[in-house]
Amino acid sequence: MKAGIAREALDGERRVAATPETVKQMVGLGLGVDVQSGAGLAAGHSDDDYRLAGAAVVGSLDLGSLDVYCHVRPMDPTTAGALRRGAVTVGLGSPSSELPTVRALAVGGITAFALELVPRISRAQSMDALTSQALVAGYRCVLEAAMRLPRFFPLYMTAAGTIPPARVLVLGAGVAGLQAIGTAKRLGARVSANDIRPASADEVASMGGTFIKLDLETAEASGGYARELSADRGALQRALLAPHVAQADVLITTAAVPSRKAPLLVSREMVQGMRPGSVVVDLAAESGGNVEGCIPGQDISIPTGDGQGAVTLVGMKDVASAMPADASRLYAKNVANLLALMTTDGVVSPDFDDEVVAGTCLTHDGAVRHGPTAEALTALAGESAPFGNIHPGTEGVR
Ligand SMILES: NC(=O)c1ccc[n+]([C@@H]2O[C@H](COP(=O)([O-])OP(=O)(O)OC[C@H]3O[C@@H](n4cnc5c(N)ncnc54)[C@H](O)[C@@H]3O)[C@@H](O)[C@H]2O)c1
Repeated sequence: MKAGIAREALDGERRVAATPETVKQMVGLGLGVDVQSGAGLAAGHSDDDYRLAGAAVVGSLDLGSLDVYCHVRPMDPTTAGALRRGAVTVGLGSPSSELPTVRALAVGGITAFALELVPRISRAQSMDALTSQALVAGYRCVLEAAMRLPRFFPLYMTAAGTIPPARVLVLGAGVAGLQAIGTAKRLGARVSANDIRPASADEVASMGGTFIKLDLETAEASGGYARELSADRGALQRALLAPHVAQADVLITTAAVPSRKAPLLVSREMVQGMRPGSVVVDLAAESGGNVEGCIPGQDISIPTGDGQGAVTLVGMKDVASAMPADASRLYAKNVANLLALMTTDGVVSPDFDDEVVAGTCLTHDGAVRHGPTAEALTALAGESAPFGNIHPGTEGVR
């Protein structure tokens, strides 16, 4: 069988779905691999690196001839429509926002695996791209903050005086938040954090942060994810967080609720209550933002309430793509590991009795197998049940 690795089409996307290391892994599985020329350049891999690893480098992929298509960003409907019936795809699918592509995949009889759907169980950790890319994002957002902060992160005791450590507050202590806590600690900051999941207090402590306990009940849904707070609970959370936000030199927000707009944790007034020169980095900017007024990909200067200066509000965008080498190294391993799970003697043959395979599958044999996406498509079409053949094990929250 032949697998194809595309050069990502989206402007600014610098990651690649296979590295020379994972091409070797795929060749070892018995697959032939075509890599589009230039696909790995931004991630540090030349065409020759891929040739040495055993791939054929081609000017453009012949989509109709591929058995497997690996990608980073969700495909567009045209690409999905050009694949042959029965082809397997592996990559990020953004099923909730890319419904036209999902429809094209289903109509075209493609067996598509969306890495966002990988079940969060120990056995699937090596295929979990949400986790690997969140790790990159959590690290990166601390560096973005540090570069904008007009002071040090660490404590310095010098002959010219003592400089206290910066105070970093992290809201949302999932994968990205924990990585942000660890990175800020390594830079020497004093770090505190809050999350609404009950397990988060111990997780924050394990990364060296101080957990801020609010007088607010915890909110956990299935699969270890957070549950959305009601409007009045959300307002209470903001009120309880306000004094902690005011004390922070750096605020990093990473809070998310699956299939929902990001929760609003910080109002403009709270930002205005911070000291001049403080920095706020909103990692959730692209999914609606945790901080009022943030714009993905932009820095905004917000005057402080005392009229003495301003706070820099950074809306993060395409974060993992900003570190394409290591983001690709991890992502490509996620892709290759999922392929390895489904490949025997050079033949990719998904076993839908395997919960990782079944859970990750978005479309197969004309059906949308991810329940929430099938429902969204049905609602969009206004039809009774065009994609109603839903696998019972795929009714996940994402
Ligand atoms: N293979 C595995 O077992 C595995 C892998 C990765 C993550 N996980 C677990 O999955 C869960 C979700 O991780 P994630 O990083 O994908 O989460 P996520 O990106 O969905 O959300 C980020 C964080 O925001 C928090 N949050 C949501 N609303 C909030 C609010 N109002 N205030 C404060 N915080 C809020 C969430 O609790 C979460 O910790 C965690 O429990 C994590 O440990 C398990």
